[in-house]
Amino acid sequence: MHAATAAVVRRATEGDPRVAQTLTERPGTGTADREELARTLLPPEVYAYYASGSGAETTLAEAARAWSAFRLRPRTLRDVRTVSTAARLLGTDLALPVGVAPMAFHALAHPEAERATAAGTDRAGGLFVLSTRCSLRIEDVAAAAGPWWFQVYVMRDRSLTRALVERAAAAGARALLLTGDTPYVGAKRAVGGVRIPLSAEHFLVNLAEHLPADPDVPALTEQDPSIDTDVIAWLQEVSGLPVLVKGVLRGDEAVRCLDAGAAGVVVSNHGGRQLDRAVPAALALAEVVDAVGGRAPVLVDGGVRSGLDVLVALALGADAVLLGRPVLWALAAGGADGVADLLDQVRAELSHAMALVGSPDVAALDRSLVVPAPILPEASP
Ligand SMILES: Cc1cc2nc3c(=O)[nH]c(=O)nc-3n(C[C@H](O)[C@H](O)[C@H](O)COP(=O)(O)O)c2cc1C
Repeated sequence: MHAATAAVVRRATEGDPRVAQTLTERPGTGTADREELARTLLPPEVYAYYASGSGAETTLAEAARAWSAFRLRPRTLRDVRTVSTAARLLGTDLALPVGVAPMAFHALAHPEAERATAAGTDRAGGLFVLSTRCSLRIEDVAAAAGPWWFQVYVMRDRSLTRALVERAAAAGARALLLTGDTPYVGAKRAVGGVRIPLSAEHFLVNLAEHLPADPDVPALTEQDPSIDTDVIAWLQEVSGLPVLVKGVLRGDEAVRCLDAGAAGVVVSNHGGRQLDRAVPAALALAEVVDAVGGRAPVLVDGGVRSGLDVLVALALGADAVLLGRPVLWALAAGGADGVADLLDQVRAELSHAMALVGSPDVAALDRSLVVPAPILPEASP
């Protein structure tokens, strides 16, 4: 590599806002390239399981487009010699207000599974969220992780959920993320009838020791469709941890969760995998932020593919952003290093974009920086 190019790349990874023409001149191509590489590496049924959405995939298709349907209103002549992406979330300091969304079964993507994802996330200074449906023991992942939260599906057998959240708390989880949008798993055409190559050993890695003798495993471990907001207080009581609710798309529902004791909400439609035709997270975010009114952190996920998308989310009022599928592609392609590279790239893109809108820190990102814009038709050649 030419010395001058190497210096630019080094600055990029060190978060210097001058960077990044190298990274942003083709915005979004980083995550698209990683997906393409992962698609060639993964068994087709695993790629389909990760990539797919529910129903006609309307919500899936709109997620990323909804972020790019905002335009920026930069401030001018601001001192942006240094730009900091640092953030504090529920008492945890992060190098960037970005985390990894909870996703099932990383073992399908990489032999090191969630250990690699957690280690790569920690290296980049982000937050890791471990799924209830993870493929390694909670304690093994915790040993490799920096700051992490545990995502909760409340199962029909409440004692199983209780056992898992107690173990997560003992292993160092800093919060629970209760998924509220999955009373039943959304039907996905692309994976209907296709078995993903996951052994029972991986599926039950955390549950086996808690199952009663001779159980009807699927019935006990399925999500309980009867849960209401009172489960928030129960989870908080058994774990001693703050409980945030994921899958909120309305201001009134966010307030209902906070009134029941939630410590925050995640605006999310589950990556287009639950209710098809659910509103894009990018379009639901401002309503939720306004209804919450600073009482608690608001996170968002779904279709975030670049540092520019993160900037739009933060400007709309999100306290942090979670990345889903791009992390699985990075994990498949490069293990822990791949995940760290992805988050480093997002941080460099965010830092560069913050400089260009005149915001030296995340606190300076506000709603005045964004304006909804109709998606312009592509110019004909
Ligand atoms: C393969 C896969 C598995 C997922 N598993 C879970 C899960 O176990 N729990 C959960 O709350 N959300 C789960 N999600 C949803 C993510 O947490 C997140 O909401 C979504 O992926 C964000 O959208 P994005 O993939 O477009 O970034 C999963 C998503 C994918 C793609």
